[in-house]
Amino acid sequence: MTRILHISDLHIMPEGQLFHGTIDTATALQDMLSGLARLLPAIGPVERLVISGDLTETGCDGAYDHLRAIMATAPLPWRAIPGNHDNRETMRAFAAQEGWMPDKGPINWREDLDDVTTLGLDTLVEGAAHGEVSDQTLEWLAATLRDLAGRPLLVFMHHPPFATGISAMDAIGLTPNPRLEAVLHDHDGPVQIACGHVHRMITGQFAGRQVTIAPGTSHAVGLNLQTQTGVHFVPGHCGAVLHDVGHSCQTLHISSDDLR
Ligand SMILES: [Fe+2]
Repeated sequence: MTRILHISDLHIMPEGQLFHGTIDTATALQDMLSGLARLLPAIGPVERLVISGDLTETGCDGAYDHLRAIMATAPLPWRAIPGNHDNRETMRAFAAQEGWMPDKGPINWREDLDDVTTLGLDTLVEGAAHGEVSDQTLEWLAATLRDLAGRPLLVFMHHPPFATGISAMDAIGLTPNPRLEAVLHDHDGPVQIACGHVHRMITGQFAGRQVTIAPGTSHAVGLNLQTQTGVHFVPGHCGAVLHDVGHSCQTLHISSDDLR
């Protein structure tokens, strides 16, 4: 089995600024990373930390500079995909030295680990809050899966491919894509899908595959299944996810209580 830690929706601001003027996302991420470092001996070997988008709130250089300083304390090698709050070219420059960032086009990547291949899929539509899997990304995914026949996969994408019931977030969800569904359905091996965007631990199904949405690192989207009055945020409810993957898969929620 191969273990991957998954965090999401960091929403880092330029240094000295708070998210929506009230939430200190930088301290929350620092606490998350130090909590994970303390917890690692109790987990055992973990191969990677993957961030499933919304690394920053503003997408500007100052926010990525602030994030770079915080990620220098990460207890594991890490990878990331963009979320709707990220800027593709600024994020590309931010992570250019990490060794996995494509030098142009969508931020899609593949990493072959012992028991699983992890894939990052770029669903960012710049200037928009909803997500899409572009034709270019879909062609990359289809070609990659042809090359990976039978391999267990852990696929990261910011926008979840199913409706969560939180209507304000579903309104800015992933544009339905039957070709994406067919490609993931037809893969001849286990597939787990891991997402962010909703800032809550939610599980669902897509293409006959298990999907897990990770909580955020500092705040959640309000739990309102009844009205579409816009997104509102509540501090806390933060956590991480441990994907224990191979030919069988377990998904463990790590709560803020585990990280104290
Ligand atoms: Fe987010």
